[in-house]
Amino acid sequence: MAPTVTSMVASEPKVASIKTLADSDALTSVPSEYAYIMDPNDKGDANDPEHSIPIIDFALLTSASPDERAQMIQKLGKACQEWGFFQVINHGVPESLMKEMIDACRRFFELPEEEKKEFHTKNLLDPIKCGTSFNVAIDKVRLWRDYLKVIAHPKFNSLYKPAGYSEVSLEFSKRTRAVATEILNGISESLGLEADYITKAMNWDRGCQILAANYYPACPQPDLAIGIPPHTDHGLVTLLIQNDMCGLEVKHNDQWVLVNAAPGAFIVNYKSIWHRATVNNTATRISIAVPHGPALDTPAVPIPELLEKEGEKAKYIGMTYEKFMELQASPAAYMMPCLDHLRVKDN
Ligand code: OGA
Ligand code: NI
Repeated sequence: MAPTVTSMVASEPKVASIKTLADSDALTSVPSEYAYIMDPNDKGDANDPEHSIPIIDFALLTSASPDERAQMIQKLGKACQEWGFFQVINHGVPESLMKEMIDACRRFFELPEEEKKEFHTKNLLDPIKCGTSFNVAIDKVRLWRDYLKVIAHPKFNSLYKPAGYSEVSLEFSKRTRAVATEILNGISESLGLEADYITKAMNWDRGCQILAANYYPACPQPDLAIGIPPHTDHGLVTLLIQNDMCGLEVKHNDQWVLVNAAPGAFIVNYKSIWHRATVNNTATRISIAVPHGPALDTPAVPIPELLEKEGEKAKYIGMTYEKFMELQASPAAYMMPCLDHLRVKDN
């Protein structure tokens, strides 16, 4: 019988990347250390058209017409409350730039393993790091993905290879951050606050932005492996793009919903909503998740003005973004909704 997720203890990785493994001709089944047995009740309800994430029109969100803007802000507020996930269209970031960014990341993953080794670092906040799975020191089951994480703000870091990565990632990170800023402004307003409330409170000018690329090669038995198991993201707002392959699923009303975004749209994750990345048996999927967080030393806390307005007590304690990221990466919070650790107990 295949081992279950909980009973498996991973050994040192046999291969430096999932790409190496997937590229080998001999691979016809999922090796046991990657075997991820999904609860049959947890299978996605993939293509239910009633269940697609809301669409936010960025051109209307930033419109000069107060009416158009107000309407879109209301829609944004509703999307945040009801889904926590939405897609943003008409944002003005050229689709060609998104494609170039994905292509630059693909060329990084395709570098010989020897050449990627210098980025195999262990520290959470190292400016550049790549690797496989999630954290091979604590993974119980290996994930069917390789990753590359580059911190692009407050200090822009870059790779000197592959050629072109540096230029394209600079432009992409700036443009994406500008979209994220407007989304946060809209969210602030949807909560009845000044547009710059969240960005000011979170020291956005020193805010953390990470370009986190995921590489999911085709998998011979996609039902027996997982790209990223259910988890929640850190950060204020994550913007995600993908090549022309789907795979991201979002938990909504207790159902897994496959995210089917319009070409060129940003998929945005605002609240701490469960999501996961599934794999497929046809082609490599590449996604670039761009979490935008507060400044590392800035504690995120429930907004005092809103608590007062609602006559409520805080349900969560505050924590700096740096501590929160450390918590999320720790064995104790492995793939857990780590916001739960911050809940005030007697409330
Ligand atoms: C992530 C993530 C989903 C995807 O990187 O945190 O959830 O579709 N990625 O790649
Ligand atoms: Ni995620």
